[in-house]
Amino acid sequence: MRLLSTKATCDTHGQGSSYFIGWEAYEKNPYDEVHNPKGIIQMGLAENQLSFDLLESWLEKNPDVSGFKRDGKSMFRELALFQDYHGLPSFKKALADFMSDIRGNKVTFDPNHMVLTAGSTSANETLMFCLAEEGDAFLLPTPYYPGFDRDLKWRTGVEIVPIQCTSSNNFQITEPALQQAYQDACKRNLRVKGVLVTNPSNPLGTTMSRSEMNLLVDFIKSQNDMHLISDEIYSGTVFSSPGFVSVMEVLKERNDLKDGDEIWNRVHVIYSLSKDLGLPGFRVGVIYSENDTVVAAATKMSSFGLVSSQTQYLLSAMLEDKKFTKNYIVENQKRLKRRQRMLVSGLKKAGISCLESNAGLFCWVDMRHLLHSNTFDAEIELWKNIVYKVGLNISPGSSCHCSEPGWFRLCFANMSEETLNLAMKRLKGFVVESTSTTQSHRSALFNASSKRNSLTKWVFRLSSRDHHRDQEER
Ligand SMILES: Cc1ncc(COP(=O)(O)O)c(C=O)c1O
Repeated sequence: MRLLSTKATCDTHGQGSSYFIGWEAYEKNPYDEVHNPKGIIQMGLAENQLSFDLLESWLEKNPDVSGFKRDGKSMFRELALFQDYHGLPSFKKALADFMSDIRGNKVTFDPNHMVLTAGSTSANETLMFCLAEEGDAFLLPTPYYPGFDRDLKWRTGVEIVPIQCTSSNNFQITEPALQQAYQDACKRNLRVKGVLVTNPSNPLGTTMSRSEMNLLVDFIKSQNDMHLISDEIYSGTVFSSPGFVSVMEVLKERNDLKDGDEIWNRVHVIYSLSKDLGLPGFRVGVIYSENDTVVAAATKMSSFGLVSSQTQYLLSAMLEDKKFTKNYIVENQKRLKRRQRMLVSGLKKAGISCLESNAGLFCWVDMRHLLHSNTFDAEIELWKNIVYKVGLNISPGSSCHCSEPGWFRLCFANMSEETLNLAMKRLKGFVVESTSTTQSHRSALFNASSKRNSLTKWVFRLSSRDHHRDQEER
């Protein structure tokens, strides 16, 4: 007799992926400067720890808020009892304004079109439940965030069909790749319910171009029942040009889609405070949709993953402080840029390059030259060496469903500068050692083959002498 349900035990969760195995390896042997200096450094976690001091100093200056008081009076009872699943109006308003500020106020968000969820994880799954039946499919450009296998597929039964993007054009989405993905889904008898993208991309660390977004909007528009979901969880992390353009801005700019066009009902934005504010533990996410039916359905479902009222209370006060948020956004981006540069130059010293990035908490790193062969087996072999021998937990491209072996995602914002420097030192040591091993292996092969050659010549000379002698003797 089975003790657990099929759903609980099936492997679509993705727990067996190298992405999660790397985390387990780190948890068993975590690096600590003092207590475990040889331990594994976690570079597989997209966490933003660079601006905690800004948040902490705000909390210090606003003790009433963290003490759950307003105008000196305790809010404890109100917060303990209150839980309307529509969310606190003041918080939704403050969050909507924060999202608009990040987009340079080129687009505005209406709090009535927002559904609060326990992080983007819950927001993405809730949207899947609202938009697709079990066995329907969403098209996703590769490489994509490994957590999507769990968030989009596991409990909903929705399928992901990859839009295969390649290094030949810096992993941008092309029309043929999009059409191919659609054909692949049709061949598998899957009904395509839409496209989901992350902008800026996890794991690429790049923003999407207007032309890519227009391509997707055209594709959705050409079909009656398709949706476009834009996961904009990293929108506040864009630290270099080209700047961030939200899908909402693209819709607004298009003359053929003026307000009222029904396509506005089929485009949805996902956001969370896990990355931009560095608060994944607070579990604050949101679905933004101009489709009232979607908002109503998602609100009904949000009971399974609400944001606690004390979190909403605290963050509404923080986000209402415009002077603080403005400064935070600018300063956080400055710090991310510095970190990204440190990683890029550290990698360069080790002879490793990465995709040019302008956003996110990670780089998409090209280690194809370190593979023994151009295969995913070789990628996993290299990855195991880096995790277990070098002591760096990085995420292999195959865990992000990349179609080319040899790419890895390396996170840079979840550690101190000293730890990042150590990580780069370890990686450089590994590259030097493995290239010199490869070289000595090659020269051993070369020596062996030149010995073989001279032996062959010697044998040839000997045998031709014998041949002459034979001739003479005859
Ligand atoms: C693209 C993307 N979407 C969603 C999530 C989940 O975020 P949250 O902590 O808000 O659930 C992540 C986290 O890494 C992510 O990278």
